[in-house]
Amino acid sequence: TKGVVTLDPGYKNTGACESAITFLDGEKGVLRYRGYAIEELAEKAHFLEVCYLLIFGELPTEQQLSKFHTDIKAQSHVDEDVKRILDGFPKAAHPMGVLSSLTSALVAFNPSSVNVDSEEDMYKAIVKILGKFPVLTAWTYRKRMGLPLDYGGDSLGYVDNFLKMMFKKPSGEYTTNETVLEALDKLLILHADHEQNCSTSTVRIVGSSHAGLFVSISAGIAALWGPLHGGANQAVIEMLEAIKEDGGDTKKFMAKAKDKDDPFRLMGFGHRVYKNFDPRAKIIKKAADDLLDNLGIDDDVLDIAKALEKEALEDPYFVERKLYPNVDFYSGIIYRALGIPVEMFTPMFALGRLPGWIAQWREMRLNKEPIGRPRQIYIGETHREFLPVEKR
Ligand code: SDX
Repeated sequence: TKGVVTLDPGYKNTGACESAITFLDGEKGVLRYRGYAIEELAEKAHFLEVCYLLIFGELPTEQQLSKFHTDIKAQSHVDEDVKRILDGFPKAAHPMGVLSSLTSALVAFNPSSVNVDSEEDMYKAIVKILGKFPVLTAWTYRKRMGLPLDYGGDSLGYVDNFLKMMFKKPSGEYTTNETVLEALDKLLILHADHEQNCSTSTVRIVGSSHAGLFVSISAGIAALWGPLHGGANQAVIEMLEAIKEDGGDTKKFMAKAKDKDDPFRLMGFGHRVYKNFDPRAKIIKKAADDLLDNLGIDDDVLDIAKALEKEALEDPYFVERKLYPNVDFYSGIIYRALGIPVEMFTPMFALGRLPGWIAQWREMRLNKEPIGRPRQIYIGETHREFLPVEKR
């Protein structure tokens, strides 16, 4: 601490705001959305219900949920010109970069949603982004696969509609698979919010300048892309595949992860807040086991993941540093089983985190939080006079 400023790189010990949305206890591995335990919500709730709970603070009645879904469906069309923007991207463009751009582009097609102040206008912007983001995500995937960009159908549930937009055959044929639907619904719930993580803090600070909801979400997508954050779910599968290619010698990769001179880290391990276990990882690990059994899939990459977890739990380096599997360690196993390609894993995280970002942005605006503007400790040059170039 020097003068009035306390240096806190990574904000490890800084509370940026007061919030009533999500409670984490890192020591006890507790995660609650608006007071409800994640274990119960993952088991008993549907994703759209959890979206409503996070954003408005209460579990919705049947009619509140029905109106919410109707309002979202009414806003689920995306201007045809957005397809031209999407067409401009190379097929191999990473979907997170595409999605961050398309989400910002939505502002151009929805100017009334830029700078909103009233709760009513916030609601309109919220149902727009909840309606349009699943379409953008599905279209980004379809573009990569060279498939037609289309909509699902008004009669479907929120997650089912998304799956149909993703996987409907060119002939239009699509059959809902309850096992897949249930697994994805649970996964999205488990990703829905996580208090002031990197991408949520990004949404709040961009939103604090009153730049508007869509670009705040676009900034959150960009932050989530990083392999230290949401991008880890893609990096985990790539790591597990590399271990498999290399002959499955997990001990060799554990040694690399501990070697300070080796940049390799065990992706999907460690967490800034959870210092015993990530409650989401426990649920996802079981859901992965159940789904693979149900679908009759034998994924040897899951076996490698379990071997790594077992070794890490017994390795002093990991135990001392309290490094355990986090939300990203097993989620990719489920996405793979659902037929989702690895580049779409982090967009799936974004789809799940969208209600959390929205809830946190809304709370920040309704609380009339000041613009985010941290200070620094200056360590540069003291005052010096300008020298003309001939004298330098
Ligand atoms: C998410 O914040 C959130 O809530 C995020 C999230 C959410 O829902 O929003 O939970 C989602 O982002 C989960 C995290 C996904 N990232 C990864 O899996 C990437 C691998 N993990 C790490 O990079 C790291 O653990 C972080 C980024 C998750 C946490 O970093 P911290 O808190 O800054 O910890 P650190 O980097 O200071 O590490 C402490 C020590 C160091 O060793 P020493 O210098 O003390 O000797 O632990 C070591 C690190 O080298 N370490 C690891 C490691 N993670 C930390 N060593 C090997 N492998 C790892 N994965």
